[in-house]
Order: sequence, then structure tokens, then C-alpha cells
Amino acid sequence: MFTIGILASGKGSNLAAIINQVKSGFLKVKIGAVISDNPGAFALEIARANGIDAKYIEPGGYRTILEPQQEEKYVKCLKEYDVELICLAGFMRILKKTFFNSFRGKIINIHPSLLPSFPGLEAWKQAIDYGAKFSGCTVHFVDQGIDTGPVILQAVVPVMDDDTPETLHQRIQEKEHIIYPLAIKLISEQKIRIEGRRVIIDEN
Ligand code: GAR
Repeated sequence: MFTIGILASGKGSNLAAIINQVKSGFLKVKIGAVISDNPGAFALEIARANGIDAKYIEPGGYRTILEPQQEEKYVKCLKEYDVELICLAGFMRILKKTFFNSFRGKIINIHPSLLPSFPGLEAWKQAIDYGAKFSGCTVHFVDQGIDTGPVILQAVVPVMDDDTPETLHQRIQEKEHIIYPLAIKLISEQKIRIEGRRVIIDEN
């Protein structure tokens, strides 16, 4: 079966949404392993509670990237599980060349804005601070830039006058939980091809 690996740093609601869609039968994939750079990530507990191998691999001393020898450990682990797709689900580090050399074109991410608006951290807060009337979320392929890879799916969320960063993020997350499993399904069923920057979805 098509096997995915998931990297997560935090509470793991996207991981939970993916697990739910595997259980429902919507997603016909196997989650080989969940790896975190944060030993306290609730995502690890969610994985273990669902019988999925969950590993903390030390990130090393840097804040925004993995130390190169640690990045090699992540890649080695994912290869041991024969993963065909890596899904970043709130993984808060930028991947570097060891990942791209091994899994080029096979890494996707969910980002809480309508890219190319508001890349980087706390995108929901960036949208509020900017005064945007619409925000949303984007599933995209990961390239070597920050939130710059080809867009697979997006969903729009209106920004309400009384939204706080927290209420907006919560509504964005409801959409994330729909489009992330859908993107994984489309890739696992080989219904996606990339033409330049454009991701074409084969409807048949
Ligand atoms: C999600 O909103 C995701 O889009 C965001 O982190 C959150 C993780 O939530 N990712 C980024 O900001 C990446 N730049 P979760 O742990 O509940 O899935």
C-alpha cells in the first residue's frame, strides 16, 4: 500500500484528520511513521494511541533547521519505512538538502494562508495584522524556498471583523483538515501532475 511518513512538531490536529480519513476508508494509505522534533508533541501521543510508530528524533542545536547529521537520521528513518510521500503537518523546521536529495518532489506541506500571501510563521496572525478580508490554507509541494513550492489545493476562509488570531486560525484549521487528506488521496492515486509551477488534477 502507498506509504506516507508524517513530520509534526505540535498538537497534531492535521495528523488526527489524516488518521480519521484512513480509518473512514477515504484514504487508502498506510501511515508508516510519525516523527517529531519535539519530545512533548501531542502528535506523538495521537500516533501511539492509533498504533502508529511514533519517534522523537533530536533536531540538534539550531532553531529553524535540523542539524545536518540529524537530518540524515530523519531521512534514514523514513527510508526504513519505505515512505513514498512525506507530509509536513505543523513541522516547524525548514528542510535542507539531505531531504531533497532523497525525496525530491515527494514532500508536501500544509500552510495556514493563501500562498503566496503570508509565508512563514503565524500566517493567521499576519493576515489579521495586514487587514486581509480573506485568508485560508494551502497544500503545496515543498521546494527549497520557504512556502514557495507548487500549489496543490487551497481553501478560502473569510476574515471576520471580530476575528482574533486564534478564532481565525481555528476556522482555517477546519479547512486544513479537509484539504490535506484530499491532497494526499489525489497524490496516492496518481491523479496529480506538475507542469512548471502548475499542479494539474486529473478528475478521472
Ligand atoms: C497548522 O495550522 C499548519 O498549517 C501550521 O501549523 C499548524 C499545525 O497544527 N503550519 C505552519 O505554520 C507551517 N509553516 P496541527 O499541529 O494541529 O496540525
